[in-house]
Amino acid sequence: MKQRLQLAQAGLEKMRAGRGSRYYPHYHLAPPAGWMNDPNGLIWFNGLYHAFYQHHPMSEHWGPMHWGHATSKDMVHWQHQPIALAPGDVEDPDGCFSGSAVDDDGVLSLIYTGHAWLDGVGNDAAIRQVQCLATSRDGVHFEKQGEVLAPPDGIMHFRDPKVWRQDGTWWMVVGARDDRDCGQVLLYRGETLRDWTFERVLAGANDGESYMWECPDFFPLGEQHYLMFSPQGMRPCGYAFRNLFQSGTIAGRWQPGGAFIPAGPFRELDHGHDFYAPQSFSAADGRRIIIGWMDMWESSMPSKAEGWAGCMTLPREITEENGALRQRPVDELLALRQSSAPLPSGTLSGEQQVATHITRSELLLTWDTQASRAEHYGLRLGDGLRLYVDNQARRLVLWRCYPQAGLDGYRSIPLPPGVLLSLRIFVDRSSVEVFVNEGEAVLSSRIYPADDNRSLHLYAAQDEAMLCRGELWTLAAIQAD
Ligand code: FRU
Repeated sequence: MKQRLQLAQAGLEKMRAGRGSRYYPHYHLAPPAGWMNDPNGLIWFNGLYHAFYQHHPMSEHWGPMHWGHATSKDMVHWQHQPIALAPGDVEDPDGCFSGSAVDDDGVLSLIYTGHAWLDGVGNDAAIRQVQCLATSRDGVHFEKQGEVLAPPDGIMHFRDPKVWRQDGTWWMVVGARDDRDCGQVLLYRGETLRDWTFERVLAGANDGESYMWECPDFFPLGEQHYLMFSPQGMRPCGYAFRNLFQSGTIAGRWQPGGAFIPAGPFRELDHGHDFYAPQSFSAADGRRIIIGWMDMWESSMPSKAEGWAGCMTLPREITEENGALRQRPVDELLALRQSSAPLPSGTLSGEQQVATHITRSELLLTWDTQASRAEHYGLRLGDGLRLYVDNQARRLVLWRCYPQAGLDGYRSIPLPPGVLLSLRIFVDRSSVEVFVNEGEAVLSSRIYPADDNRSLHLYAAQDEAMLCRGELWTLAAIQAD
């Protein structure tokens, strides 16, 4: 692998030298250049956070998957590391697909999917996918240990292993597509990371619901166990499931050796346009954190013209409160705050410009939804983004329109009950993440405003709105351009 890694690294350096930065994030993790998709192998190991990711270092398009690598002391400031894995060995001739990382008695161990095209690149009808192991003592240089788990008979789509240790036993969930074309999650038990026994089908789709479940994860939180995964093939249903693929959780009960007993339906984790393949990990102090890929398959990605594509969401702490999942930006992100300005609170009617140019900002807004009688009210960023309450439909709407990129559409959630609606909004050069009411809901979308079209306005249309509190923070840029 060494030579292929060197070639990949050299290719990346070349891409990086020519990379543009108009849309390149100020404070989100993105590849130095080239393509990025799923987060992989998120782990706190030997005093550092590691984020690996699906990476094509030689191109801004998806291709033979490598594992990119970055490390951080705080999940906020990231340092790029050498590419960790390159494909091309017998077990992974065409790609090192998604997977996870564990600490095996001081050995940083990556468990990932080795991918092979059996009948031409891109032909999903004839592939081989196996689970593989790679290990490292220094956390930077990895040695492949080869295949450790082949698919069960009759299963071809078999990928994205998530491994954890519980009471001295290794466990692994793997995403699969069964012989009826239904997505499912398979559970394995391991004596070591090299020897695995099939335990059970942990959960699966009903006929026609979804054909493949990618990137499974399984963890305890609060009183329950959460199965998190990314189903492909769900049909849109009203305001739900509108992206090409979804990501979400099923909550339930589980004990080692037993079945998973779901306690409710599949719930989407994020209601924006761009969120996929989230993975969880434990922070140094035990908080459960998730990071997702802030993009969507087959979406238009204007940053490709700059020689890069793909970025991660901010890390979010997830908790269970009164039986429901909450997601909040990790507290470490407060370190990004530089200076703040209050926004004019009180009664608002018509439109008011409150900032001329925002590219790295955190915005805090609390609306009184009872006192606000406007037909719709909220904010707009330039001409391309609106985040507003539709008072007739009683929904919070995130609408983006970037015609040059072929992007135009909205996502929305029901207005949460309660008088006050508090929004914590992170804006970067090409993204917006909206945390609603202390993480009751999140909407994440990529945005592509021109440089001269980033003014911030508050507005209330047809009657008044009541803004109880508004604050605008400028955040630090943590990436070199
Ligand atoms: C999810 C996914 C995974 C796969 C990887 C390939 O986005 O399709 O199932 O391992 O991306 O890059």
